[in-house]
Amino acid sequence: MYTELDPKIASHVAASVGSMDAYWMPFTANRQFKKAPRLLAKAKGMLYWTPEGREILDGVAGLWCVNAGHARPRIVKAIAQQAEEMDYAPPFQMGHPKAFELAERLVQLTPPGLSKVFYTNSGSESVDTALKMALAYHRARGEGHRTRLIGRERGYHGVNFGGISVGGMVANRKMFGTMLGGVDHIRHTHDLSKNAFSRGQPAHGAELADDLERLVALHDASTIAAVIVEPVAGSTGVLIPPKGYLERLRAICDKHGILLIFDEVITGFGRLGSPFAAQHFGVTPDLMTVAKGISNGCVPMGAVFAKQSIHDAFMNGPENAIEFFHGYTYSAHPLAVAASMGTLDTYAEEGLLTRGAEMAPYFENALHSLKDHPHVIDVRNIGLVGGIELQPIPGSPGKRAFDTFLECWNQGILVRFTGDTIALSPPLIIEKAHVDRLVGTLGAALKKLA
Ligand SMILES: Cc1ncc(COP(=O)(O)O)c(C=O)c1O
Repeated sequence: MYTELDPKIASHVAASVGSMDAYWMPFTANRQFKKAPRLLAKAKGMLYWTPEGREILDGVAGLWCVNAGHARPRIVKAIAQQAEEMDYAPPFQMGHPKAFELAERLVQLTPPGLSKVFYTNSGSESVDTALKMALAYHRARGEGHRTRLIGRERGYHGVNFGGISVGGMVANRKMFGTMLGGVDHIRHTHDLSKNAFSRGQPAHGAELADDLERLVALHDASTIAAVIVEPVAGSTGVLIPPKGYLERLRAICDKHGILLIFDEVITGFGRLGSPFAAQHFGVTPDLMTVAKGISNGCVPMGAVFAKQSIHDAFMNGPENAIEFFHGYTYSAHPLAVAASMGTLDTYAEEGLLTRGAEMAPYFENALHSLKDHPHVIDVRNIGLVGGIELQPIPGSPGKRAFDTFLECWNQGILVRFTGDTIALSPPLIIEKAHVDRLVGTLGAALKKLA
């Protein structure tokens, strides 16, 4: 067990703690944080350690990304070797062999038909890439009038302008003007009055998919390019699709020639016990966005998987013409590709892309043991994702969950909170003893704060 901090890290941390001013932290209460910083300095397997050497059990896979656990040897080695061999290669009009090899490996994991890979560097970039693909696809087929994009209330699709436009989290949108034009939203699926304390998919709400018909009636299908949803909404507080909902959404899209995009940035790479949520739910989208678990969070990376027919629609001009005017300097970055190869090796060797299914029943029972704890108004779960929703403190929304998060941190576990929901999404290497410790500590925190 690691308790003492490496002197090099310690001196770096000591130096940086003296000057926290310059770093403007993302999605953080900067002033509050800097008064009482929560710092992480080392990680291995299921654990983090603080600069002082305090052990923290990782209940959220970093940020839903470290699916194979931390500092996995194959990944570390792959990155180090690649850094020596070739640091960077331009991806425009050039390539490097491993980028092609990785794409071939990735499409072995995807649902049938999603056979093309476009590399990005993050979930946000994957989302904007998929939205652009959808618009350009229709135009390439002579249906350039399909310009409208449909998202869902409470959706989270990253922070770029496309993603916040189709996203449905108010705080992420309200400060940023009018965003993309021609966007509309279907209703979210969260309904505690009918579905509280569901295990797995809730029974009620498949008909909420019909909201897309309402938008078709309003705008006409001929104006709509695509609908984007998270199969399981994570960042908004773990919203699990009602039974039959995704199937119905798929059917309505098919009926009207609308592309269906699944944002699998958190559900991809084993989170639900299948490689992708699409397989778990038996619903195949036309485009699928991923990031996070594609490289185990070790080097930034994302990708869009596209159906062959979407790709082929672009391949109709002269052969020397660029078909899709889009890409990033760091698309298929050699270090990210190496990290992803090491990640896929680790997933395969340890059966991690299906391990979530084995652990899910134990995880589910443990989570639902919190049902009668103070202020718990819902417990929901699927695969290795859990949400515990708390009754908000009147006049202080989010405070109860924040206090719970802080108490958990003080007691040595890392959880996430959004609104008044505590989210758990541990690395897929989690053992039963870790589940007990996570849920036991969380339960104690809820009782202490009651
Ligand atoms: C569903 C979904 N889409 C997109 C993103 C954005 O990913 P990134 O932060 O890598 O840009 C996230 C991040 O949590 C996500 O959960």
